Amino acid sequence: MTRPVRIAIAGAGRFGALHLETFADLPAEVVAVAEPDAGRRAEVMARYRIARGYPALDALLAAEDVDLVDVAADEARHGGLVLAALRAGAHVFVEKPLALDPADAAAIEAEAGRRGLAVVAGQISRFAAGYAHIRGLLASGALGDPVHLRFRRDFSRTWFPAFGDRVHPVWESGIHDIDLALWFAGAPCVSGYAVQRSVSGRAHPDLFAATLEFANGVVATIESAWLVPEGAPQTLRGALDLEGTIDATAEVLGTRGTASYRLANDGLAVRTDDAVAHPELTLWPTVAGKIGGALREELAYAVDVAAGVRGNDLMPLGEAVEGVRIAAAIERTGARGGPLDLAKEGPVRGQDAEADRVGIGRDQGAEPDRSAPGANGRRP
Ligand SMILES: NC(=O)c1ccc[n+]([C@@H]2O[C@H](COP(=O)([O-])OP(=O)(O)OC[C@H]3O[C@@H](n4cnc5c(N)ncnc54)[C@H](O)[C@@H]3O)[C@@H](O)[C@H]2O)c1
Repeated sequence: MTRPVRIAIAGAGRFGALHLETFADLPAEVVAVAEPDAGRRAEVMARYRIARGYPALDALLAAEDVDLVDVAADEARHGGLVLAALRAGAHVFVEKPLALDPADAAAIEAEAGRRGLAVVAGQISRFAAGYAHIRGLLASGALGDPVHLRFRRDFSRTWFPAFGDRVHPVWESGIHDIDLALWFAGAPCVSGYAVQRSVSGRAHPDLFAATLEFANGVVATIESAWLVPEGAPQTLRGALDLEGTIDATAEVLGTRGTASYRLANDGLAVRTDDAVAHPELTLWPTVAGKIGGALREELAYAVDVAAGVRGNDLMPLGEAVEGVRIAAAIERTGARGGPLDLAKEGPVRGQDAEADRVGIGRDQGAEPDRSAPGANGRRP
């Protein structure tokens, strides 16, 4: 493809706008936006000089010729929007999570496979330097075999009523660590246990904790609580227009070594009369007037995949589908707590076949999958 990749945005809210800002610096042209909120649509079109806007993606797809649809609507819309984009013959980048329903995730995988189209799930941590470094250590064998993975991701309490409780926290915060666990373990999940608690009494619990066991024996613990008080040092500031705290840690214990990572930058301290901040600078920092970091990397990657410059080897769709299966099992375990009924949450597949499909043995992550959908940028 010699011309810039033609992109449509589905959902121009907070994160959709950040995507628009990022695409401005990539070999891509945002040709249209689908956004049901008329005021928001007009505002974003003016700010980012987008010629055409539509209230719904279906109308956009009927009128526009696009290579890539970027789904940045709220989580509940993802499954339907991704399927609509695929059926119109477009590659897809979809913000996390891929879908909320394992049946939708499976339908997306089947549709993409049938049409030879790529779906890149926006699991941004795979593009963040700290997590990617740990994945590299595992792939090279420097840590030996992974044995135990520990993840914790706590968010500001004030964010929960503001937007957090529109879905169960496993989809908003937990899905990042479920994906990292899959990436680091290199095998599908075979059993697990989850509990949750509601502190604020809102529609969804404020916290959950889960233990996962993978087919190769790796154990992972994943915890997320939306209970960080306002007095905590802020880590999120700047481009997203959302100030507060993401307090996240990851630990990997291997047979030959360990690694730990904290998603913060204590080396940068900002103190004002009303806050102390340690702004996080790996996810979407503004440098030289442009959005950089993991967000730029993942959107540039999606543009390359859509252009046929590379295959979708870093975020294989099968692994995003597996993440949805695990997250759905945690959500459905719900208030009763207890063992995860994974078999009922998604398609039951043979363990060996599944291990191959998720396929993250040592060193495999370094090899592009040339046969992945979108590897040659073909349209159906
Ligand atoms: N990777 C990350 O770290 C990260 C951070 C923040 C948000 N996100 C993800 O980004 C996505 C958007 O989150 P947000 O905070 O920007 O939400 P938001 O509520 O600010 O924006 C969502 C937008 O989608 C629009 N919308 C609703 N239904 C639609 C439809 N059918 N078609 C098109 N647009 C539709 C809404 O009107 C709204 O403008 C979510 O999936 C969220 O999980 C990811």
